[in-house]
Amino acid sequence: MKALLRYVVLTSALVGAFEPVSTAVVAGMGAAALGRKLYYYVYENCDGTWLGFNSTGLEEDLRTKLFGQHVAARVILKAVTGFMNNKNPRKPLVLSLHGWTGTGKNYVSQLIAESIYCKGMTSGFVHLFTATAHFPHEMHLELYKSQLQQWIKGNVTNCPRSMFIFDEMDKMHPGLIDSIKPYLDFYDNLDGVSYRQAIFIFLSNAGGENIVQVALDFWTAGREREEIELKHLETALSLSVFNNKNSGFWHTSLIDKNLVDFFVPFLPLEYKHVVQCGLAEMAAKGLTPDEEVVDRMARDLSFFPKEERVFSRQGCKIISSRLDFYI
Ligand SMILES: Nc1ncnc2c1ncn2[C@@H]1O[C@H](COP(=O)(O)OP(=O)(O)OP(=O)(O)O)[C@@H](O)[C@H]1O
Ligand SMILES: *[C@@H]1O[C@H](CO)[C@@H](O)[C@H](O)[C@H]1NC(C)=O
Ligand SMILES: *[C@@H]1O[C@H](CO)[C@@H](O)[C@H](O)[C@H]1NC(C)=O
Ligand SMILES: [Mg+2]
Repeated sequence: MKALLRYVVLTSALVGAFEPVSTAVVAGMGAAALGRKLYYYVYENCDGTWLGFNSTGLEEDLRTKLFGQHVAARVILKAVTGFMNNKNPRKPLVLSLHGWTGTGKNYVSQLIAESIYCKGMTSGFVHLFTATAHFPHEMHLELYKSQLQQWIKGNVTNCPRSMFIFDEMDKMHPGLIDSIKPYLDFYDNLDGVSYRQAIFIFLSNAGGENIVQVALDFWTAGREREEIELKHLETALSLSVFNNKNSGFWHTSLIDKNLVDFFVPFLPLEYKHVVQCGLAEMAAKGLTPDEEVVDRMARDLSFFPKEERVFSRQGCKIISSRLDFYI
């Protein structure tokens, strides 16, 4: 894509340089075509130029950039690759990401977006809704409902391969969740619009404590974190999500109607993962990663349980800002 863009810009510059009067007409016609081409490559369109799927890219990103989430990485790669390679999916892809704060839920959504859209999270086809920011007042529920339904419909009409990320799902009003249910289901189309190419990602802390408990049980038993498999987390997760009245899923039938394709658990991060995040963050800031600096920072963070200090209370969340104090 980038190479093509460079080519188009370069050719247009060349055409500009060789624009004698004799070739004005030809050049004019060429310029119009070129203009169209340029427009095509500069403005995002819903086609192969701007979106596709790079499974090697996603695999590599999950392996090298996401730390301590072997279960989530595996499930997500399988889910997204399977869906994107399916020419004729029967329903949109619906992922529900669960886990303790700062464990990488938003970060993974970003990696998924980057593997599909050239512009990643800044793509006009990726929509992020945050419960407390977009739908703060319960009294406006009816307005939010119709607005959200219009947005989803409008955007999927514009581009079937649209992605919707709902952050703080546990703070979203159950009625609002119910209002998007039809779009997640096995319909050929709804009012002439097919939602089967779309991707919905729900993020929440619901079930996070149960996931922590499983991880802690493994740690206490002296078992390796890498031994934890999806099956160890699956039951605890769905039951907790289902039984916790504070979680937004409670009143909805998202679960009993099997609209969520994959529940993805995020494990609490340990000291070594925080160090990895710190080193990556230093590199991202353009600094030479320095183990000593990162170690000092990591030691000052808060870990739980209090005695054993196994898991980072804030995951990797505050590292970006914390690091500045130690450099
Ligand atoms: N597992 C991880 N691997 C690498 N970096 C991570 C990981 N978890 C978090 N980070 C870093 O920390 C930042 C914050 O994480 P993120 O926003 O994804 O947390 P979250 O799971 O969405 O938390 P919350 O539940 O509080 O919203 C990310 O932008 C990323 O830089
Ligand atoms: C896919 O991702 C890999 C690894 O990041 C990269 O080397 C490759 O160029 C990408 N392919 C395309 C078509 O963008
Ligand atoms: C698409 O979604 C955005 C919110 O992300 C909204 O502002 C916009 O109006 C929607 N577009 C259509 C055509 O509905
Ligand atoms: Mg988040």
